[in-house]
Amino acid sequence: MNSCVFRPARLDDASAIAELFRKSYASATDSDIAYPYPQLLSPPGVRALMSRANVLWRVAEGPQGVVGSFGSVFSCQPPFVNVAEPFGLVVDARARRQGVGARLFQEILEALKATGARVILSDTRTREAGGIAIVRAAGFEPVGFVPWGHRTPGGMEAMLYCAWVLPKKDAPRRDEIVLPPRALALRRCFEANRSFAFSGEPGLVSLPLPTPVEPHEMIPPSIIRVRGMESVEATVSLIQTMQGRSGFSQPLVHLIGIGGLAKAADRFVEVAFVATARGNNVGGLVASFDCLDGRIRVLEAASLGTSVTTALLSKIEEWRDSRGMSGVHPPTLVLDVRADEVTLLTELERRGYIPTTLHPRLLMETHADGPKCIDVFRYELLASVPSAIPDSVRVWPEACAIAKCVIETCQDLSLASTIDAAHESDRE
Ligand SMILES: CC(C)(COP(=O)(O)OP(=O)(O)OC[C@H]1O[C@@H](n2cnc3c(N)ncnc32)[C@H](O)[C@@H]1OP(=O)(O)O)[C@@H](O)C(=O)NCCC(=O)NCCS
Repeated sequence: MNSCVFRPARLDDASAIAELFRKSYASATDSDIAYPYPQLLSPPGVRALMSRANVLWRVAEGPQGVVGSFGSVFSCQPPFVNVAEPFGLVVDARARRQGVGARLFQEILEALKATGARVILSDTRTREAGGIAIVRAAGFEPVGFVPWGHRTPGGMEAMLYCAWVLPKKDAPRRDEIVLPPRALALRRCFEANRSFAFSGEPGLVSLPLPTPVEPHEMIPPSIIRVRGMESVEATVSLIQTMQGRSGFSQPLVHLIGIGGLAKAADRFVEVAFVATARGNNVGGLVASFDCLDGRIRVLEAASLGTSVTTALLSKIEEWRDSRGMSGVHPPTLVLDVRADEVTLLTELERRGYIPTTLHPRLLMETHADGPKCIDVFRYELLASVPSAIPDSVRVWPEACAIAKCVIETCQDLSLASTIDAAHESDRE
């Protein structure tokens, strides 16, 4: 590492950076590169990302050229005030285990803190132990487990979510929210396990690979709608006009801007749904389907009430099923929901969605008595939890401990009956 210079990335580093990613994530045949952010695999994609105003990027340069790269998106827009998400820590195989990765991580962390970062998120691999070692050494805490995070040539890889949250209570959480049972169980579990200790060697993660789907098989006629003839763009505008009204769920995609760029890649198909009642638009939802992973992510959602949001989700589930998606395992549906959307959280739990991540204090809103922070839960509808989970947790102890929290939360039958009972009493 002594021979390395650490500096901001330049546009003319793009080819070297894309090459680092290709080499690190390609299979032996070089034909199966399924890195979840395809834009990092091509020089134009790297340049486009680097040119964004909300992206920081650092490289490590040795005598032979660029040997390490790490970037981050950040947001200062409400409600994602001073929130950042680093991405793509990669070091050339010949330069590993010399402190380059840890130094790049520190460089980005310091740069983010200098921008006033309040929350820094980190999506971390489980098949390679280096990433989590670096993230934990930097003071990040585990906040979630993603059973089928990334498709890799060797199989589906589970991911861990970690976060660094500014310890100073500059903005208190909103008054204690009464969470539904699974969300509460997950929060308690994370709070009780702050010191997940990392030790041991990583094991093999061997989840089955989903069967890829050709993008043209998934493209809907132009839009799938509850009613109406809206385009994806029109649905996004509709959603924007609805934000701030009651009953909306706000996903993280505004922050994870590289997910936004990935939309342009062939492997992602977007669908929009609009709900109308008596001729008025009452809700909209845009989702992205990953033809390689089989995952559907809710990108934008807004509605005038929980029943509309859940009707929209039902439409996506129907769309997935009508496309024969049950053969594409593991079909998952992912969405992020504010912790104060208690009715929606409860309804999701009743429908079998599982909270897999708790992002503490992610949102910040201005209220009459000052700024208030709000947690965000990630919920996933996992089609085959019981059979797949045992494989996915054969990683290493820390991943197991975090995964266990999530899995026990979702498998606890007493919680399931509590949810049903709560739902019944709501209906009475
Ligand atoms: C992960 C990666 C970036 C680490 O880079 P690196 O330069 O080798 O990391 P460092 O030398 O700075 O090591 C930092 C710490 O991680 C530990 N570490 C690194 N690689 C490790 C490994 N394979 N197994 C166990 N520990 C490891 C080091 O021991 C060191 O801890 P220490 O300070 O207690 O000794 C590199 O291995 C890589 O590019 N992997 C492929 C892409 C990837 O997985 N990226 C991470 C995404 S989350």
